[in-house]
Amino acid sequence: MKNIINASFVEEMRKTTANMYQLGWDERNGGNISYLLDTNEVAEYLDLNEVKRIIPLGFDAAPLIGKIFIVTGTGKYFKNIDADPENNLGIVRIAADGQTAELLWGYSDGGKFTSEFPAHLMSHMARLSVDPKNCVVMHCHPTHTLAMNFVHELDERKFTHTLWEMCTECIVVFPDGIGVLPWMLCGTNSIGEATAEKMREFRLVIWGMHGIYGAGKTMDETFGLIETVEKAAQIYMLTAHLPRINTIRDDQMKELAEYFGVDYRKDFLDG
Ligand code: 13P
Ligand code: ZN
Repeated sequence: MKNIINASFVEEMRKTTANMYQLGWDERNGGNISYLLDTNEVAEYLDLNEVKRIIPLGFDAAPLIGKIFIVTGTGKYFKNIDADPENNLGIVRIAADGQTAELLWGYSDGGKFTSEFPAHLMSHMARLSVDPKNCVVMHCHPTHTLAMNFVHELDERKFTHTLWEMCTECIVVFPDGIGVLPWMLCGTNSIGEATAEKMREFRLVIWGMHGIYGAGKTMDETFGLIETVEKAAQIYMLTAHLPRINTIRDDQMKELAEYFGVDYRKDFLDG
């Protein structure tokens, strides 16, 4: 059996969380990631019959029975994951009852998966129903995106349109736009259900005055989505209080989307 510490998915979690911490998106225990793994690949590193603990989920995850995820731990700091992955990360399999998770590795101090696991698993279910290749769900608190929440209307058409205007690449990177939820209590099944509802339509969801969710096929795709939103939000926050002399017009965004052949939200552009 190979050493799990050398697995590419553990390496990806270590590198990505360290990077996100460096970018200031994940202060203290802020943020969480869940990554759907290939069962055969996990079997190269772990004995899949050896369940270390059973952890209740608190909701029904029946459509994900048997699926294995690597997930950040609740209360754990992204800052510390790279140095101690076995304590700060866990690998869990959704059990046959759909109500519990079987711990296969990690959370070595007795911890458990993120408190946002309902939002993650419900988002995985929603994304898998529209894109069977979706593997990653990522949540974080990027500074400029969060700042923008306090000075911009929390309306998904208007929020998307403003972001699309801020960087030429935005409409190409997230042509599907960005869903927006109002402020809601985090860690609950309700916010999970609301997030999943948006995830049927969008790969990006703003949690009003809290942070952002992204979903994608790979760690790079998901990170890149959030990174592009954050860059656009930074440009917005650097310019919102200044007179706007130039702008990327709607007809130019349409030209971009058509040139790059992306299926964009036509109802999010004017005219
Ligand atoms: P966890 O520490 O439970 O992952 O929570 C962090 C967070 O960002 C809550 O929204
Ligand atoms: Zn959060």
